[in-house]
Amino acid sequence: MDANIPRTMYFEDGRLFLLDQTRLPGETSYVACETPEEVIEAVRRLVVRGAPAIGCAGAHAVVLAAGRISAIDGASLISALRIAAEPIASARPTAANLRWAVDRMLRAVAGKEHLSPGGIRAILAAEAARIHAEDAEMCAAIGRNGAGLIRDGARVLTHCNAGALATGGSGTALAIVYEAVGRGKRVEVYADETRPLLQGARITAYELKAAGVPVTVLCDGAAASLMAASRVDLVLVGADRIAANGDAANKIGTLQLAIAARHYGVPFYVAAPASTFDLSLPDGGGIRIEHRPAEEVAVVAGRRVVPDGVSVYNPAFDVTPAELITAIITERGVLRPPYRQSIADMTAR
Ligand code: MRU
Repeated sequence: MDANIPRTMYFEDGRLFLLDQTRLPGETSYVACETPEEVIEAVRRLVVRGAPAIGCAGAHAVVLAAGRISAIDGASLISALRIAAEPIASARPTAANLRWAVDRMLRAVAGKEHLSPGGIRAILAAEAARIHAEDAEMCAAIGRNGAGLIRDGARVLTHCNAGALATGGSGTALAIVYEAVGRGKRVEVYADETRPLLQGARITAYELKAAGVPVTVLCDGAAASLMAASRVDLVLVGADRIAANGDAANKIGTLQLAIAARHYGVPFYVAAPASTFDLSLPDGGGIRIEHRPAEEVAVVAGRRVVPDGVSVYNPAFDVTPAELITAIITERGVLRPPYRQSIADMTAR
């Protein structure tokens, strides 16, 4: 992790501190959450965002929830916690990592009803810390596994933010860039601005600049012309949920990048940890796509830019079909088509 990039979150003195990503790049401040409701609100407002990061935040929110339940014994704490965990797991619907992390927290205390409430809370605190620490290890492993795909002098196009600020470590897609740079390769990144919430312009550009990696921001609509001009060697993005056949949901606008990349013969890579895969879904058709408020599109810098009364279409994610994905880079290795087989093999490991 680059020391110049602020921590996405940390847990201290019974509170979860979240870097307020809505205020980047102008202000580096943290939101202190004492209750699960405050974490849920922060996840919905995108104070913390990015699939692995909201998984870590969800795990810490379960710790906060357990701390606020007054229970006479372990059994009543666990049964109340199961109810309190549901709104945390469903704070945002598309990223698989959120429910994955909350379920893992509940599994950690399953069968522990005989313990005291204090004993159960201690298990939960340790499990949340483990999920967070493993996330950092996962990022480093994705970086190592993917760095060989980037040659010296490569120009990488990315979308949204799949960097340190989207995870508990150095990122998924951007971990690969950081690792390649760490190995002495020269890498230049093009960051789509990522309308409407500008995660690329505000967050990816911020963290790459802090890490000393050359970055150029472009409008989302300029990406195809950049490829047409032979100025992109590879596209590298993260994912929020990947189905059993390799169809991958990521920030809205990713699909059109993949289509353009195929047209211009540019390799299109997805980087994601095992916790982002959802094998209950045979293909991407079953991925629930979050739709966000019209104001995010209609109001720019505090000014309404869409006439009153005009409707707005604002899905937060789209699904890229597996056939457009050159490879999926995970902490367990690089997966190649046919994905149904390589994903099944990876998850069995
Ligand atoms: O709405 P966001 O900012 O949470 O969307 C994030 C993305 O789409 C990321 O690319 C994805 O979560 C992968 S983060 C490593």
